[in-house]
Amino acid sequence: MKVAPENPIGVFDSGLGGLTVVKEIINLLSRENIVYFGDTARVPYGIKSEETIREYSKQNARFLLSFNVKMIVIACNTSSAVSIEEVKKLSNVPVIGVIKPGAISAVRATTNKRIAVVGTNATVLSGAYEKEIKSIDSQIEVVSKACPLFVPIVEEGWADHKIALLTAQEYLGKLSSYSIDTLVLGCTHYPLLKNTIQKVVGENVKLIDSGVETAKLVKEILTQNDLLNHSTQNPNYQFYVSDLPHRFKEIGELFLGRKIEFLKKVDIKDW
Ligand code: DGL
Repeated sequence: MKVAPENPIGVFDSGLGGLTVVKEIINLLSRENIVYFGDTARVPYGIKSEETIREYSKQNARFLLSFNVKMIVIACNTSSAVSIEEVKKLSNVPVIGVIKPGAISAVRATTNKRIAVVGTNATVLSGAYEKEIKSIDSQIEVVSKACPLFVPIVEEGWADHKIALLTAQEYLGKLSSYSIDTLVLGCTHYPLLKNTIQKVVGENVKLIDSGVETAKLVKEILTQNDLLNHSTQNPNYQFYVSDLPHRFKEIGELFLGRKIEFLKKVDIKDW
């Protein structure tokens, strides 16, 4: 079936974190309809094997394609890092992840060619950001650090708590010895820790939010394909999850920065 500008953009993530990316897409493209899937029953992906993450990502993509989406955005850094090629293979519409836009933006931002990347264990182990950055400029030095405790801290609502600061100091304290001038927030949850991370790495280090850059790429691709939605109707936002955990709406609305009106649980294993 042919896609039209009114068709939704499909976004998926391992859970709620991808709502930070949806927030940026809505900020930039306020007329677009969006279908979001958060794999809340199987989150976190960041500690799972590549094989499992790929399998989950394919199911998520197949679910979104059933809405006749006009493009797929993999909002999850972990899933983007290890499964974007597999998802592209099964999709008849453009697929983008958050790694490439984040890497391009980091390369533009650095002046001393020293970049740090922080993310989940799986993202850091995959080396995806490093490969992408070096493919643009092989002279750039990249130091990567997995910060697995950041995800549960944000989900606990402690982004500005002293526990977050202590954890950030533990993970990132040594970065000063690498003289980096740019740091990629390579995980959906980390933009919520911006203030805390900036305190630890210092005001002179530029923080790259992959979500902001991804939203710009979404606009670029839709424009190129003549698929921007110019309808004057109120946009439709549908949120699907594989589980409805305690405090879901509360935390989700914090990530999204707005109310979640339509929310439904689906059995993702069927896809
Ligand atoms: N969404 C994941 C990411 O951006 C973080 C949560 C998880 O580990 O699933 O890497």
